[in-house]
Amino acid sequence: MKQLLIISHAPSPNTRCLRDALIAGAEAAGGVTVRSKAPLDTVADDVLDAHGVILSTPENLAYMSGALKDFFDRCYNPCLDETQGMPYALQVRAGTDGTGTCKAVDRIVTGLRWQAIAEPLICRGDFRDEFEEQCRELGETFATALGEGIV
Ligand SMILES: Cc1cc2nc3c(=O)[nH]c(=O)nc-3n(C[C@H](O)[C@H](O)[C@H](O)COP(=O)(O)O)c2cc1C
Repeated sequence: MKQLLIISHAPSPNTRCLRDALIAGAEAAGGVTVRSKAPLDTVADDVLDAHGVILSTPENLAYMSGALKDFFDRCYNPCLDETQGMPYALQVRAGTDGTGTCKAVDRIVTGLRWQAIAEPLICRGDFRDEFEEQCRELGETFATALGEGIV
């Protein structure tokens, strides 16, 4: 069975809620194995074992979380030759912006030659219930596409 790996830095109740919605949506799709790991706990083998990746991070100081950057710092080279074409999606929790994180992640995954399955989902501003629904939908859409071999 294909595996969807959710790499989520979730330091607050709201970001944990979004992470859990990504997981719940992916699990609801069925047909794929869903794994969730914190970026600081994620190693290159986790990515090598996966068939798709969802990256989830808050935006801090116009950039991805340091934890997600640390994941890329450690795993970029070991993944470089092995994960080209990896389907991925990005979800950002942002207070006012989110674009700096999208640009920074885009530069890195472009180097890895990963393929976005959707535009980045930026959950921006005061926390709203619809963010949870959007994350659930992203997880379900990705897992469905992965399970059916569309991505
Ligand atoms: C030090 C710091 C820097 C931040 N920088 C940004 C930023 O550059 N852009 C942005 O949109 N939000 C920024 N934020 C807001 C965070 O993204 C927001 O607090 C985070 O997503 C958590 O939201 P939550 O409390 O709903 O989980 C920053 C927050 C902190 C504490």
